[in-house]
Formats: sequence, structure tokens, C-alpha cells
Amino acid sequence: MTPVSAALEQTEDRSGLPSLAVVGATGAVGTVMLALLSTRQNVWGEIRLIASPRSAGKKLKVRGEEVEVVAISAEAFDGIDVAMFDVPDEVSAEWAPIAAARGAVVVDNSGAFRMDPDVPLVVPEVNAEAVRSRPKGIIANPNCTTLSMIVAMGALHHRYELDQLVVSSYQAASGAGQEGIDTLHDQLMKVAGNRDLGTTPGDVRRVVGSALGPFPAPLVLNVVPWAGSLKDDGWSSEELKVRNESRKILGLPNLKVSATCVRVPVVTTHSLSVHARFNTEVDVDEAREVLRDAPGVLLFDNPAEGEFPTPADVVGTDPTWVGRIRKSLDDPQALELFVCGDNLRKGAALNTAQIAEVVAKELTQA
Ligand SMILES: NC(=O)c1ccc[n+]([C@@H]2O[C@H](COP(=O)([O-])OP(=O)(O)OC[C@H]3O[C@@H](n4cnc5c(N)ncnc54)[C@H](OP(=O)(O)O)[C@@H]3O)[C@@H](O)[C@H]2O)c1
Repeated sequence: MTPVSAALEQTEDRSGLPSLAVVGATGAVGTVMLALLSTRQNVWGEIRLIASPRSAGKKLKVRGEEVEVVAISAEAFDGIDVAMFDVPDEVSAEWAPIAAARGAVVVDNSGAFRMDPDVPLVVPEVNAEAVRSRPKGIIANPNCTTLSMIVAMGALHHRYELDQLVVSSYQAASGAGQEGIDTLHDQLMKVAGNRDLGTTPGDVRRVVGSALGPFPAPLVLNVVPWAGSLKDDGWSSEELKVRNESRKILGLPNLKVSATCVRVPVVTTHSLSVHARFNTEVDVDEAREVLRDAPGVLLFDNPAEGEFPTPADVVGTDPTWVGRIRKSLDDPQALELFVCGDNLRKGAALNTAQIAEVVAKELTQA
């Protein structure tokens, strides 16, 4: 323990605060979660780190202290008030109900429960009140692509009432977890310095070889119009998530949504080009004001000065950045926007932490 953390330990009284488990603490989202828990205002007593048996005994740092990772088991949830799950769908599906049965309120980052009618799907800036109705003791965190735009869309919906979203995503490698990050870096190493690449059909594929990781085509020097698994009629699971989750969060079961999800060679931060159509005519200056005033949104929209959101500037920050706002030329009720959000922060760990903090406040006040 460093002298600084030792001093903090002495001054910080955590008695009476709810206890927290971070399940999946060793993963891409879990790593960002530990960093967030170390910098946000502390509302937690004990923080317990849980992962697969492969990681048991590993030591990770949170709030300046080394904490040993424990293997997942029913007993690992004893004494835990809130359990964040940052693990694959099938792990959440199996273990979240066990944690809830042991008395923890689960905040789940996976896709296992998002569309369950008895599980609220929450973005605190948009529908924080939904947290209170959780018959299964489970609250779901939306997927990173939906989350990267929904705070801005919620603010505009509040003013103009959404009718339709047409969305193209530009999704980062880390959306596919640590394996996605590693694959992009490995592919970058393979192509670095080769100035002939990207000039003939298949040349990038030949250099990358079979090491495609979680992607169906080389990601480096490429754009891949695919994320997730194949569903009916050619849609990808990611595209259907954007549609279904936007509808549930906004409470608009009939919202028209068309999404095309695309993977780009960016490490972290998803971008979306959005055509948003509303039930009333829009005023672009007023829309800018709405976004400027919206909690969790950062308006960055001055193309004359080269100011618009890009992943390279947005990564590592909390807000949803919005720029390139234009009134549609052929539809007075529609806006065109470009939105960026760090998929590991607001797109995952930050939103989960915010939901958990809403629950912590409720438990502390009870
Ligand atoms: N990446 C994103 O942008 C993003 C955004 C929103 C939501 N999510 C969701 O968040 C979840 C985690 O994603 P990630 O990107 O962080 O994945 P990841 O990097 O692959 O990490 C997976 C984590 O789950 C743990 N785990 C795997 N199998 C387990 C088991 N049987 N029992 C207990 N723990 C187990 C791993 O522990 P070990 O290290 O011990 O294997 C690791 O800590 C997924 O459901 C994902 O869909 C991801």
C-alpha cells in the first residue's frame, strides 16, 4: 500500500456503506470499472472482485488498494448488497439469479436480461426512475452501441418526440472485449510499415492471415459491416439490439428504428451517424440548446473550426459527444447528427456504475 492510499484508508470511514461485488473484474469492461470506482466519489463499503476460477488469487488495484480476485461461487455473494456483472451473457444468465437470491441487487452489463419484461433497462439520464421496479432483483445495462447515442436522443425526444431513428454505427474493436483489442493490436503490428498494403484485392487478408479474432474479416486497414450474430432476414444481433433497446429505454414500443452496425479499426469509442425524425418540426439552434443543457451530453459542433467529435478525442471521457448537427434538407421534422461515446465508459462501466450508485443511495436511505 502506498503512503497516499494508507492515509486515505485512515481518513475514509466506509462503515455503514453498501458492499459491492464486481463480477468480471479482469475483463475489458471490468478494468475500466475498477478505474472508475477509484476516481468517482466513493459510496461503497467493501468492494469484492470476482472472476472465473482462472483468475482466482490475482491481485487488482481499486481505490488505491490491492484486492485479491475470488472465483465465482454462490458463497462469493454472501454479504454483498450490489453486484455488477461484467461477464459474457451465459455467465450472467447462470449467476445473476444466484446473486439476487443471496440478497444482492444485480446490475447486469450483459445481454442476458435486457429484454426481459421483469427487468428494467436503465440509463440514469433518461429513465432513472425505472431502477425501483425490479421484481427479479436484476437491473440491466443497455448495450454499448445503444448507450453511445441514447442520452442525446433522450434529450431530443423529450423536446420533439421521436418518430424514427436511422442509424449507422462505426464501432470500436473493444466492443468485442479484450480479445477484440488484442486482435486489432496484433493486426496493426503485422501491417505496420508496409506501404504497399491496401492496393490490391486480398493483400490485407493475406498479411493478416487467419488471426481474425472475434471479427469476420481483417479489421486493420478495413471497415467491416458486421457486429454480433446472424438473425432473421439478414439482420445482425447488434442491429436488433439498437432497435429493441432504444424502444424499451425511451418507452416507445412502436419507434421505427433501422440500424446498420459497422466495425472500424478504432480501439475504443463507438461513433454513430444518426438520422432522427420527430413528430414536430425541429429548429436546429433550439436543438443545439437542448443538447448543450442535457446532463451527460457534450456539444462539440463547429465544423468551421474543425470541431466535431472523433473517437481519438472522445476516448477516456464520460459524456456523449454530439456534433455535425444539421436540419435534414428534405424533411423539416428531422435532424442529422454525429455522436461519439466511449463504449467502455458510458457504453458499459460508467452507466453500470451510475445505476449502482442510484441503488446505493436507495439502500443507504432505506
Ligand atoms: N466491451 C464493450 O464495449 C461492452 C459494452 C457493453 C457491455 N459489454 C458486455 O459486458 C460483458 C463483459 O464484456 P468484456 O468486453 O469486458 O469481456 P471480456 O474482456 O472478455 O471479459 C470477460 C470477463 O468475464 C469473466 N468470466 C468469463 N467467464 C467466466 C465464468 N465462467 N465465471 C466468472 N467470470 C467469468 C472473465 O474472467 P477471467 O479473466 O477470469 O476469464 C472476465 O473478467 C459482456 O457481456 C459484454 O457483452 C461489453
